[in-house]
Amino acid sequence: MVDLIATVTLVGISELTPGPGPHEVSRVGERWLQIQLLGEVDRGTRQFRRGVGSYPGLDDPVHFARTEELEAVYPHPSTTHIRVGRLSSSQAVPVALDVNKLVVRHSAVVGSTGSGKTSVVASLLQSFARGHWPAANIVVIDSHGEYGHALSDYASVRSVLGTGATRLHVPYWALPAADILRAFAGSAGGPTTQKSWVSYVADARRTFVSTASWLKLDPSAVTADTPVPFDIREVWLRLDSENRETRQDKPNPSSVCLEKEGNAQTLTPNVYTPHGPGGRPPMQNPQFGVHGSTPELLRLGLLDPRLAFLLEPAGTAEGPDPLVGAVDSWLGGTKPVSVLDFNGVPDDAAELAIGVILKLIFDIAIRTPSGTEGIGRPCPVLIVLEEAHRYIGEDAAPIAREAANKIAREGRKYGVGLMLVTQRPSDLPDTALAQCGTIIALRLTNSSDQSKIRTALPDSVTGLAETLPSLRTGEALISGEALVLPTRALLDRPDPLPMAEDPSLDSWQTGIGTRDVQTSLARWRGIYAQERE
Ligand SMILES: Nc1ncnc2c1ncn2[C@@H]1O[C@H](COP(=O)(O)OP(=O)(O)OP(=O)(O)O)[C@@H](O)[C@H]1O
Ligand SMILES: [Mg+2]
Repeated sequence: MVDLIATVTLVGISELTPGPGPHEVSRVGERWLQIQLLGEVDRGTRQFRRGVGSYPGLDDPVHFARTEELEAVYPHPSTTHIRVGRLSSSQAVPVALDVNKLVVRHSAVVGSTGSGKTSVVASLLQSFARGHWPAANIVVIDSHGEYGHALSDYASVRSVLGTGATRLHVPYWALPAADILRAFAGSAGGPTTQKSWVSYVADARRTFVSTASWLKLDPSAVTADTPVPFDIREVWLRLDSENRETRQDKPNPSSVCLEKEGNAQTLTPNVYTPHGPGGRPPMQNPQFGVHGSTPELLRLGLLDPRLAFLLEPAGTAEGPDPLVGAVDSWLGGTKPVSVLDFNGVPDDAAELAIGVILKLIFDIAIRTPSGTEGIGRPCPVLIVLEEAHRYIGEDAAPIAREAANKIAREGRKYGVGLMLVTQRPSDLPDTALAQCGTIIALRLTNSSDQSKIRTALPDSVTGLAETLPSLRTGEALISGEALVLPTRALLDRPDPLPMAEDPSLDSWQTGIGTRDVQTSLARWRGIYAQERE
């Protein structure tokens, strides 16, 4: 004997809307409901199975599901299921997600701003670390610096503005040449600049490879994009000199009018004798001015404290490989969660750096042989991408977009899971959303976002999807592989909370008199002082 479980998809009253039929005459006062059968609970074993083997007969009794019936349907938190909240309709029943499916089949957490996305992710991460997964391998790309607070006991937190061991480093030389210029100078420059830049960077990388004992690479196989260290300051000086050099004899490179030699390491430019008027010597070199303001923008970028996180680790000819330490720090060492805090970095540079991190983690996972201790299939890694639309959407920097989309498409095979967190699901590419096996949809007020999520949800939950704009804060529709049935759930609040709490307006009532901006300004300048030491 089985109990059938169904969800109500429509209710009505005959005078207003005739029932779905078949019927000839509607009886006055007749109330009807339309249901969709979802599965059955075996009365003996109390086990729930999706799908129905036998249909209800006429005049079978129908009643609202009781707590004990719902408990049979929803798996309890265990070594395979992680608790995320409780049923909205029956709050004694916990809702737990299948960890395997949640991690390796990707997931999306969507909701308008303030709906509780960061909170549900923080609470899930706390449950991982406190529960049965103390050796988890989770990397959180935290654009706003919110997670460190909620996870300080379990996470290695690195921030671009941190000091010492808490400083996050993403070496510029891991980027392709054009992206390095984009990160520091804000644009890749015109075609002539790009050509010079690419050729100088390739030269510099080759020189490094030919001197580095730890790299077994053939210098002739090195291109401007090969991720090996080089000194960007030397390349800057070369580009800057080309842009400003004057000569006694225009075509003769040995007739340079150098007054004072610059220094690449201190970013001091060469000083040349100003060119004469009307084409008289000293003359401009043939490339004079072709790079416009790019060399100067590059110099300012290299001095910008917000970009200092890109300058290390530099790498030396003697070794060891600086990427080993960098990747290990991104993965959080032995902590179950690693928070990479990009708060305070210009958006363009953050996108590029995040692109490098995603690309490297994925490339490493692909190459990890099974049976070893690396990341990937032997030890899956979950990447939580906050503000995912910024890195995976159409307008994202190619390196980030390609890496994120590739993980969405192929990550499952190589043990790299993705959790996309966004308030703009309509900006996510369809392919990426389609790869998300589980969707946690919090309140969505924007209609294009709602329709995007509605199309991503199975047909059986169209009724539930209508509730998207009216969900409470911290309430979500959860649907997909990690949960037996599409469900409306009240999510657990994380403890401690992330820094995402709405600010309190208490100070507007009690009044503190003066507003001290001095300390903040000192800290703001402090960043500069710290970098120039
Ligand atoms: N489960 C919950 N129950 C009750 N309140 C919650 C819950 N989760 C979050 N909140 C409250 O909602 C507010 C916003 O939460 P949160 O910062 O997580 O939203 P968000 O969706 O990440 O917002 P944003 O898009 O701006 O990043 C917070 O003040 C938090 O306390
Ligand atoms: Mg948030």
